[in-house]
Amino acid sequence: MANRFHLEKCRAVITGASSGLGAEFARQLAPQADTLVLVARRAEALEAVKDGLSIFQAKILCCVADLATDAGRNTVMTFLAMHDVTPNLLINNAGMGDYGRFTSSTADKTRTQIELNITALTMLTHAMLPKLARPAGVLNVSSLASTLPMPELAVYAASKAYVTSFSEAMAIELAPQNVTVSCVCPGPTPTNFSKTAKRDDGSDTNRDGQTLLRIPPSQVVARALLALKRGEACVFPGMGVSLASCLFRHTPKKIMRWLLRRRLGKE
Ligand SMILES: NC(=O)c1ccc[n+]([C@@H]2O[C@H](COP(=O)([O-])OP(=O)(O)OC[C@H]3O[C@@H](n4cnc5c(N)ncnc54)[C@H](OP(=O)(O)O)[C@@H]3O)[C@@H](O)[C@H]2O)c1
Repeated sequence: MANRFHLEKCRAVITGASSGLGAEFARQLAPQADTLVLVARRAEALEAVKDGLSIFQAKILCCVADLATDAGRNTVMTFLAMHDVTPNLLINNAGMGDYGRFTSSTADKTRTQIELNITALTMLTHAMLPKLARPAGVLNVSSLASTLPMPELAVYAASKAYVTSFSEAMAIELAPQNVTVSCVCPGPTPTNFSKTAKRDDGSDTNRDGQTLLRIPPSQVVARALLALKRGEACVFPGMGVSLASCLFRHTPKKIMRWLLRRRLGKE
């Protein structure tokens, strides 16, 4: 039986809270939270999110940290100790992509992507689990991209396959410890994601068919929080994304490879 997690009076750490889905998690949790710790690199953007939440009772703290580094991840743990915050919810949301061929990607961006999407999520969870007050929640932001290999977004899709797999395993392993683990797999969502993923000299991603899948960040976040409340291990927000995920997961590999090759050839 899955654990349910109650959001009322939660003390949450939200990574990547300076924009997009992370800022939206902060907005939707603020009316009911006790404390929110907003983590990202851009101090001003974090403060702007915090200012927008000043009408609520919740205590909002901004922690500036580069989660793609060990030092940044340690900063978060030190920050929590310094401010005497014992969280009961960790939202691993910070993440980034890189549109284009693997061979022409820079080593730096590839490494940062792995550090942020995989290492930060894993090591923050590892460091925080012993400290999370029970009952606890961990919400990981994966992607629809986790369901299929994606040429020209290869490292990103593979990193999100890791996130989904890790989350599913943790949901089972941590349930007896009163920790609810959920994973949300959004489809294309209007945030700063594309701007960051686009290379300076590169093209945008192929957006064929994406209109049918796109839903606003508010709906993605509402569905993700509902999953945590219900103790659902993995959700695909939106009817289109949900259908696409079924299609991607059940299409025979041979056919999927053919389709992906055709799609790449068109560009
Ligand atoms: N938008 C989509 O289409 C989509 C679809 C599926 C999944 N997702 C996932 O949703 C999550 C949120 O992305 P988003 O769409 O909201 O994009 P976004 O608007 O670009 O937000 C990314 C957040 O991550 C933070 N971040 C980036 N690098 C960081 C670092 N090194 N250290 C700390 N924080 C860092 C950014 O803040 P700073 O720049 O201030 O550090 C920002 O707050 C990601 O995991 C993404 O993979 C997005």
